[in-house]
Amino acid sequence: MVESSLPYHIKIDQKENSFDIKSIGHETFGGQLTHNVSAHPKVNHKTGEFYTFGYSMEGAWLSYTLFNKDRKAINGCNIDITSARMIHDFPITDNYCIFPDLPLEFDPKKAMKEGGFVFKFDAKQPSRYGIMKKLAQQKSAVQWFEMPTHFVFHYVNAWEEKNAEGQDIIVLYGCAQE
Ligand SMILES: [Fe+2]
Repeated sequence: MVESSLPYHIKIDQKENSFDIKSIGHETFGGQLTHNVSAHPKVNHKTGEFYTFGYSMEGAWLSYTLFNKDRKAINGCNIDITSARMIHDFPITDNYCIFPDLPLEFDPKKAMKEGGFVFKFDAKQPSRYGIMKKLAQQKSAVQWFEMPTHFVFHYVNAWEEKNAEGQDIIVLYGCAQE
């Protein structure tokens, strides 16, 4: 998998002392998957559900598709974010998806004109996380939380619990860079 593309279906034949790997083509789950998918989709090991997401190279949105254990798409939508951005990983809990909206902006035209890397971190913008029930039918069901500016390539884990005051909270661990 690579975040700029649909996943690839590969076939691996084991030979005596080696493996022969062939690309079969894009994996679309029978046409159900229509967006690029990050190399960090998630499997919920309790339910067998497979969560995919990808960020757009063209505009300010993320795409999300959830498959059940029988490879059937049971939810999917586009989530509006602040601008075209690189989102490398996304955490889940038992009941929620967590969509990072972090200010590592994707601007190939600017990079062509001014040189430099195609992704630029803008520390003046906040970092946000959008939390949505995994089966929510409306993208308006995303609740956004703003945090001090940071970027995370890889998250470690996330879960739901109650805090000392008895409120429902989500705990999220990631490797945050300023
Ligand atoms: Fe990665």
